[in-house]
Amino acid sequence: MVSEIPVKSREPDKTALQKRQLLEKGKSLVSQLCATIRTAQIYDRSNSVYVRQAESLLGLIQGLLEGTGEFLLKSKEGYLFLNDTRLRFSFDGYVAGKFIVEMFRKLQFECIFFSPPLIREELDEFVFILAHADAEGEDPFENLQKRVASSNIEHLRVEKFAPGSDLGDESEPEGQKKQAKKRFFKTLLVAQETMESAKSKRSINTVKSKRAIQFLIDQLIKDEGKLMSLTAIKSFDEYTFAHSVNVCILSVALGTRLGLSKGELSELGFAALFHDVGKVRLPIELLNKPGELTEEEWVEVKKHPIFGVKALLSRRSIDRFCTRAMVVSFEHHLKLDHTGYPETSAQRDLDLFSRIVTIVDVYDSMTSGRVYARTPLTPDEALRRMLQKQGKSFDAALLKVFINMLGIYPVGSVVILDTGEIGVVMEANPAELSCPEVAIIADRFGKREKVETVDLTKLDEKTGKHTRTILRTIDPHGYKLEVARYIY
Ligand SMILES: [Fe+2]
Ligand SMILES: [Fe+2]
Repeated sequence: MVSEIPVKSREPDKTALQKRQLLEKGKSLVSQLCATIRTAQIYDRSNSVYVRQAESLLGLIQGLLEGTGEFLLKSKEGYLFLNDTRLRFSFDGYVAGKFIVEMFRKLQFECIFFSPPLIREELDEFVFILAHADAEGEDPFENLQKRVASSNIEHLRVEKFAPGSDLGDESEPEGQKKQAKKRFFKTLLVAQETMESAKSKRSINTVKSKRAIQFLIDQLIKDEGKLMSLTAIKSFDEYTFAHSVNVCILSVALGTRLGLSKGELSELGFAALFHDVGKVRLPIELLNKPGELTEEEWVEVKKHPIFGVKALLSRRSIDRFCTRAMVVSFEHHLKLDHTGYPETSAQRDLDLFSRIVTIVDVYDSMTSGRVYARTPLTPDEALRRMLQKQGKSFDAALLKVFINMLGIYPVGSVVILDTGEIGVVMEANPAELSCPEVAIIADRFGKREKVETVDLTKLDEKTGKHTRTILRTIDPHGYKLEVARYIY
């Protein structure tokens, strides 16, 4: 039952190579299209800057047409696709990608079709229509269509967003935040319902949970940062459910970093959500007991991995989701060196999913102030302690990927800035780990009327240096700060 990360062949086959080349061309198409439209917003058609830019774009399009015949550039759920291939941008292509997605959204179209033989005049006309289109008017798409129809454009056409597609406000940061919250709380509810049924020894309804996990995975793909930031909220009454959802989100996010397939991510999400399902068979007073546990109480708590296996076994039909979840429930408190609990004489390697869930489980527990330490640790302190046990308790390679994913300042960290202000980290910035998005909660005098969110990558126009930088993290408990308040 040991799964490993699939090892990729060193020699990419021909189709993989062609796909990669197509992908690179697609990304160039987006950046060239963005540059040409922007140039057309400033210069006229005869200007040499525009001419050079338009020629380069035309050359690229013609190259693509030669290779593929007709092709389309599509925007779906905030992502761009060349035919069916999603264009993944690194940081430098990100701005152009965002510009094109926004243009599609504002002008209400979903695809641009390119067909041969496209000539310069048509491309110029089309680019100038897009560059000066009125996105504020009554029906932007209708206007755009009219202008395209009244011109000599034959080999370029646009298609409207299908009803029910993602035209809504989800591309706006606020819309995404709302969506992420909705998913988070829905999953919380499903986890609660499912575990309640395990408590009353009824069979666990896995259909609902699988669906909820699928939605979570979709949301994670759409905007990982927003969903991950919710895991920093630790102040739920029903700790076990919130902890389970957090472990699910962070495990799946870690799984995506390892290149797991969508199917594997669903199984991982399911196993992570139910890693502690056995706890519902323990008395609630024991789970919520403030202060240290007695030796007898620990004996009881240590039964939960086996209780979990039993709860999952009580299902009428056992599929591969349940089998994997049983393994994870059994193994999630076993350490890499086979210490931990339940005691086992087996010396085989722990399942990959168990190794993932163990890391995330300990991190969430440590930062919540339950089980491992009664006072919550700051995220960076928790990671520091975990690093000391790499190779013994935790898989060192997985731990490295996990730390990289959370960033130097994980969401929920409280930081002091060089301006003397105090901030709460809201979202990591993968491109610049030392410059996350931060909510400023107090000025240098410890006061602030309104919380303001700032992006630490921002540079001062005059000096060219960062306007704010992080000096160090602080322990929120010393300052009596409720971090969750700022993340909600
Ligand atoms: Fe556990
Ligand atoms: Fe746990």
